[in-house]
Formats: sequence, structure tokens, C-alpha cells
Amino acid sequence: MAAKILNSTLSSSALLLSGLLWLLPATPSHADPLQDQQDFRQHYRQLFPGLTLPDYAEGVYAIDPIARQSWQAIEEFPPYEAAIEQGEALFNTPFKNGRRYADCLPDKGIAIAHEYPRWDRAKGEVITLARAVNDCRADNREAPLPYEKGDMASLLAYLAFTSREKPITVTIPADDPRALAAYQQGKDFYYQRRGQLNFACATCHVQNAGRQLRSEILSPSLGHTSHWPTYRLKWGEMGTLHRRFRECLAQIKARPIPAQSPEFRNLEYFLSFMSNGIPTNGPSTRK
Ligand code: HEC
Repeated sequence: MAAKILNSTLSSSALLLSGLLWLLPATPSHADPLQDQQDFRQHYRQLFPGLTLPDYAEGVYAIDPIARQSWQAIEEFPPYEAAIEQGEALFNTPFKNGRRYADCLPDKGIAIAHEYPRWDRAKGEVITLARAVNDCRADNREAPLPYEKGDMASLLAYLAFTSREKPITVTIPADDPRALAAYQQGKDFYYQRRGQLNFACATCHVQNAGRQLRSEILSPSLGHTSHWPTYRLKWGEMGTLHRRFRECLAQIKARPIPAQSPEFRNLEYFLSFMSNGIPTNGPSTRK
């Protein structure tokens, strides 16, 4: 899909842009996350009046009945099962110093995934679950894991599995203005046009959600963080949310940004706050 877009930069953008609404949801000059959340949801309610909030956890399959059928067939023998098992084994394997992940994550790491990303007051930054895993490793003098796939994806698959059905619960502490600023940066990133195609995330996933872009129907961003990591048929393996972010940037030929950079962590913070209350269903499968 990415290749197709790359092959046809101008023609595909012209195709996509024909007949679309250029109105962004009102972006207030001061950050008001709850108002943002209401506006964000209202937009999708108008586009997809038949969907309930939990439906958004299913991504594009909530709005594409044909793709939904093959997705449901795949989910009967889910290709992510091995990753959950491997992740559990990794999670329970002690570090060289004898300590474990359970010793440094809140609630021993079980059923906490839906509460990430978190604002970390001491560090003064947004901490995603992937980052918390690597911080735990660093505290125990273990080398960091690469962030997009492999062992990290397996660990996150297991941790997500222990949070299944729990509603996304991301908070922006009111008494630390830096948290609100991080949220605002994530939001700005989401709405900012970039890349050779000069698209924002919102161009595809807000204004054009539900429309077809070549062979794909564009998913709403509500629920975009609910189901990670994901076994993607295109990847033939598990991958993390930030791997997907990176691919979407590549589609529009934008400057690459590494997984777990502050930009992507703040973006995840914004998107997760938009999706608060949606039950998590990670790990998942996507095409
Ligand atoms: C040119 C259009 C386009 C732009 C711009 C774009 N994406 Fe996407 N994105 C897609 C397509 C196509 C897919 C695959 C179908 C789907 O789920 O929407 C996708 C999928 C995703 C998914 C996975 C959805 C799921 O259910 O697994 C996420 C998350 C995502 N995009 C986030 C972003 C973010 C964040 C940005 C901005 C940095 C962005 N996208 C920019 C086209 C775009």
C-alpha cells in the first residue's frame, strides 16, 4: 500500500483530495483536552452514526464489512498467540542481577497497559509502556530492546493481553503544566501538514476517514491506540504502534522520526487521550 502511494504521489493525492472537506475541527488556541475529545468524537459520530465507542477498537474493520469478514476468520487462529507466549516467558525471565520486570513496573506489570502512556513527573516526560520496559532494563543494567518489533513487541503483546477489555485510561495531571504542554505538542503534531504530499495525520484519518485511498479504507483515529502491538499481514510479524506511525509518515514522504522519540510519545499521549474509555483488545491483527 505504501509503495502504491509512493509510486503515484501527485495523482493519488489529487484523487484523494477531490471532493473532500477541508475543514479541520476547531482547534482552540489554549489546550483543553476534554473539549478536544468531545469535538474529535463528535466528528466521527457524524461520519459513522451506527458505531458505539467500543466499536472503534476494531479500527477499519468497524466500518469495512468486507475486510471485517477476513479479519474475523484470521482472529479465530490468531497469529499473535505465539508472541503472547514468548512475551510471557521473556517477562518472567530474571535479568542477570536476579531482578525482573515485575520488580520495576507498577502492579508488577500486570493489567497496566491500558493506563499508558503516563505522564512521569520526575522525568518530566511522557512514558509509554515500551519506554517503561526499556527504562526497567536500564535500571537493571540490561541493554535496551529495539522498539519496533521482536522481543519488545512480544513483551508488549503479553502486557497488552493482561489488560484486555480494560478501558483506555490516560490522564493529564492538571497540576503539572508540562503534561498539558506535552499533550498539546502531540495534538499539534497530529494536525500539522508535512512531507512531500503535505498531509497531516488528520487529512487521512479525520477528514477522509471512511473514504477509500486506493485499495484501503481509511480508519478513524479514535481507537488507533487500542490494539497494539499488532500482527500485520504485510509485515508478516508483530510490530508496535510507533512502527505504524513511522510507516504512515513514509507514505507521505515526510522526514522519518524514530520510534519512542518525544514527538511520537506525545502523539501517542494525544491519541490515547482521545480514545479514553475504549476497551483495549491488544494484541491484534491487521492487514
Ligand atoms: C495518506 C494517508 C495517510 C496519512 C497522512 C496517515 N495515514 Fe495512518 N494509515 C493510512 C492507511 C491507508 C492505513 C491503513 C488502513 C487504516 O487502518 O486506516 C493507516 C493506518 C494507520 C494506523 C493503524 C490503524 C489500525 O487500526 O491498526 C495508525 C495507528 C495510523 N495510521 C496513524 C497515523 C498517524 C499518527 C498519522 C500521522 C503521523 C497517519 N496515520 C497519517 C493512511 C494514512
